[in-house]
Amino acid sequence: MARDGALYACQSCGAVHSKWSGQCSACGGWNSLVEESTARPPGALAPSRATKARGLAFEGLETTAPSPRRISTGIAEFDRVCGGGVVPGSAILLAGDPGVGKSTLLLQVCAEAARRGAKCAYISGEEAVEQIRSRAHRLGLADAPVSLAAETALRDIVDALKREKFDLVIIDSIQTLWSDAHEAGPGSVTQVRACAGELVRLAKKRGVAVILVGHVTKDGQIAGPRMVEHMVDAVLAFEGERGYPFRILRGAKNRFGATDEIGVFEMSDAGLGEVKNPSALFLNEGGERAAGAAVFAGIEGSRPVLVEFQALVAPSVYGTPRRAVVGWDSGRLAMVMAVLEARCGLGFATRDVYLNVAGGLRITEPAADLAAAAALASSALDTALPQDCVVFGEISLSGDIRPVSRMESRLKESAKLGFTRALAPGTADGGPLVSVTGVARLAEAVARIGDQAWA
Ligand code: TYD
Ligand code: MG
Repeated sequence: MARDGALYACQSCGAVHSKWSGQCSACGGWNSLVEESTARPPGALAPSRATKARGLAFEGLETTAPSPRRISTGIAEFDRVCGGGVVPGSAILLAGDPGVGKSTLLLQVCAEAARRGAKCAYISGEEAVEQIRSRAHRLGLADAPVSLAAETALRDIVDALKREKFDLVIIDSIQTLWSDAHEAGPGSVTQVRACAGELVRLAKKRGVAVILVGHVTKDGQIAGPRMVEHMVDAVLAFEGERGYPFRILRGAKNRFGATDEIGVFEMSDAGLGEVKNPSALFLNEGGERAAGAAVFAGIEGSRPVLVEFQALVAPSVYGTPRRAVVGWDSGRLAMVMAVLEARCGLGFATRDVYLNVAGGLRITEPAADLAAAAALASSALDTALPQDCVVFGEISLSGDIRPVSRMESRLKESAKLGFTRALAPGTADGGPLVSVTGVARLAEAVARIGDQAWA
């Protein structure tokens, strides 16, 4: 049924095929191929001009390289994840699940930046101007000099941005835009690619910082083509667990800064508030620490963050025991359990194992191995760790505990929050405030937990 010249683009991975088929051969997705127009971009046949090459040095003041000027949005958590503010002429993709708070965050960013003198526009293809106004009113931002528009036609947006010079423009969302140069519907690969491409070009050419909102599909992919991620200078992921008020902004790609920074926010009636001290948030406050709980002294981006690991090891009633993990890697859990079985004599074969990271945070550091192991051992042996003890360290398959990065900052943060002990690699030095129970082998750590033998 392929017509001459017709092309079929996969709506999930962006691969283009010359024939329709039920399954995309590139990503394996079913029913994702859609015929898309092959319209030539306007101006493609204009007479060619030779590209002019230039030197690396800045023209004018050659000796000092200017650090890129940045727009401070006044929301410190957001600025930090961007690498210290938004770079003019850059394009940022803010991706997140529907309802996580992307529009709220960007309205706040836009309004605060406008209050600080930046010329800002907020263009929504999802909400009417009145709706955005009433939200701004509720958030106490109604006085901010932001230019609002409800618009989905790319051509009109581009015209407006060419007429007036803005510093920061929010497009909410890239999936609602459509360009009349293409036949495909809004949200299709062709449209998303064309609209994002055009806006990124405009951002560079006019020195406007553009933030595009992108919805994420159920399986965690940014809806539409992955290539939007390649077009933009930075990709920020906005995440949150359902049922928790905390939201985490994570840099997934950043041409102008580090990608391991996180910003922590709390959603309330008054919008998104910045959380300056995330440790206090992720710790289970008050009461005795129960068996199965271990406080991990972690590092998220540049900041130390304390978070509780909770484990439950219980006799299994089914033939195949259950393993469930939230907030940590299940492969890593399997490895830690295998090492506990092989090197420390703890058996899990007939027991269900549940592991949970409190507060909805997702931990990816290997330094959390020992915290997870301590939580598991504590539950399996039914002995609680001391109330004022933090845990960190990487576990090798041989059962050795390896030192991890920035042990000093981890211990300093622990001391700041009132913790006075640490179960950690032997080389960690807690200074006068934290007494470290140094362990070289996982078996030693398990023995100390079982015997309640603390330094
Ligand atoms: P929204 O920013 O519209 O999400 P997104 O743009 O990512 O789809 O936020 C939606 C949710 O946030 C909605 O469920 C209500 C909640 N919310 C608050 O709890 N407090 C507030 O002040 C606002 C504006 C929204
Ligand atoms: Mg929205």
